Amino acid sequence: MAIQWFPGHMNKARKDITERLKEIDVVIELLDARLPASSANPMLARMAKGKPRLMILNKQDLADPAITLQWLAWYNAKPNTQAMGMDAGERAPAQKLVAACRELAPNRGGLEKPLRVLICGIPNVGKSTLINSMSSRKIAKTGNMPGVTKNEQRIILADDFELFDTPGMLWPKIEVEEGGYNLAASGAVGRNAMDEEEVALELLKYLLAHYAPELAARYKLDEVDGRQDWQVLEMIGKKRGAVLSGGRINMQKAAEIVLTDFRDGQVGRITLERPDEWLAWEKRAKVI
Ligand code: G4P
Repeated sequence: MAIQWFPGHMNKARKDITERLKEIDVVIELLDARLPASSANPMLARMAKGKPRLMILNKQDLADPAITLQWLAWYNAKPNTQAMGMDAGERAPAQKLVAACRELAPNRGGLEKPLRVLICGIPNVGKSTLINSMSSRKIAKTGNMPGVTKNEQRIILADDFELFDTPGMLWPKIEVEEGGYNLAASGAVGRNAMDEEEVALELLKYLLAHYAPELAARYKLDEVDGRQDWQVLEMIGKKRGAVLSGGRINMQKAAEIVLTDFRDGQVGRITLERPDEWLAWEKRAKVI
């Protein structure tokens, strides 16, 4: 599936970030706990090599807790990297994140050497929510000042703690096909940039393989074993009254229902990829 994901002006943002990274002490990357690897920015991983990194698996309340543990172990095993699960709206864990940043750069802090942290994440991953929760006082956003480019925002979290926010830093090409579908299912991709029916069918295929009981329960389906994704989409459409004149199922409407339910956590706590699956997908896409 081709996703129009990387607008041209992003190249400028990439240059700005490369410059900014020179003076950054810690990089926070916000991932979607339901699709940690698909939502991780491969370009950032290369650009920030050597910097201490905090990988935050956000929306963990929507993700499968057992798989989140697998992903946390996966990221924590990487050099220079610390991973945490998070519900961005909760203040206490977000405040712990501030403490973790300070620990990762013990030589910074104080008015002379403020700690400089870059925060990145795909659209809709919960960055604004997290920034609000991290702040113990009203956030001062200072986008328009010398040394801070139009593509970023400097947020003063404390007198000695500066957070650089880089809205929508995306990467040019989605290499792993499943990753594209997962990003689309999560709501990170604009509606006009994807085919919702195709995305819903891929989502159903994964749910049938890994979360069939949850799927059947959500839509009160009697029998999903051995069914194809399109058959299940039809069954859901029928149950939900997505029917056109003449009795045909409105597949577009049914797809919207499935995607909205998944995004809202209505199907259950679901994760769309596991570390071993991701490795296999990357191998097939010849990324590794
Ligand atoms: P962004 O800046 O990265 O684009 O994301 P933002 O904080 O605006 O969050 C996007 C949506 O994700 C918001 O929902 C927000 O409430 C929700 N969200 C953020 N963190 C979490 C989390 O840990 N768990 C869950 N379940 N949801 C989270 P929205 O419906 O777009 O807006 P709202 O009306 O809920 O604020």
